Amino acid sequence: MKILVLNGSPRKGNTLTAINSFVKGVSCEHEVEVVDTYKLDVSPCTGCRACQCYKGCVAKDDSNMIVDKIVDADLLVFATPVYWWGITAQLKMVIDKCYCKGAYLKNKKAGIIVVGGAETNDKQYELIKGQFDCISGYLSWDLLFYNAYSATQTDDLANNESAIKELESLGSLLDSEK
Ligand SMILES: Cc1cc2nc3c(=O)[nH]c(=O)nc-3n(C[C@H](O)[C@H](O)[C@H](O)COP(=O)(O)O)c2cc1C
Repeated sequence: MKILVLNGSPRKGNTLTAINSFVKGVSCEHEVEVVDTYKLDVSPCTGCRACQCYKGCVAKDDSNMIVDKIVDADLLVFATPVYWWGITAQLKMVIDKCYCKGAYLKNKKAGIIVVGGAETNDKQYELIKGQFDCISGYLSWDLLFYNAYSATQTDDLANNESAIKELESLGSLLDSEK
């Protein structure tokens, strides 16, 4: 499978630790690319609808490059810190741009990794899961995993041995996937 990981965090902290652990567990039969959304030059969707959901975006920035990578991937992993009870703006801007090729985005596999300061029983994790459940339903995606972790300081997750093990083991879930 072609696996595209979209990193929603702008800092080298817990989300990056989670991504690195996930990638470590993925077997070499899969191809993995990690994109740092904060490094992209992606303008917000203006809702102009010139794309008609298949033509691509009129913006002359990284929008089409990243959306084409998303179209090309078999498994999309959205990894994000919690910002204000939701996903980060950097990741949301990329998701919004998926509208420009929405017609080509059906039937993918997806995985979600979320890291917030609050404990994992906080409502924010349900809210974020709810958003991805809706996106997955709309685009007929198979949501393979949703993993949420509580971590605040940049090295908190790295010091959580069971979380790291769990993230590394996610890769084995994929071996039965084509
Ligand atoms: C702008 C901002 C908003 C945040 N909002 C929340 C929040 O609503 N809930 C929460 O649990 N943590 C919140 N946090 C804390 C981060 O989710 C937490 O520190 C996380 O570990 C950051 O991930 P990172 O190390 O990958 O950047 C916020 C942090 C920032 C900078």
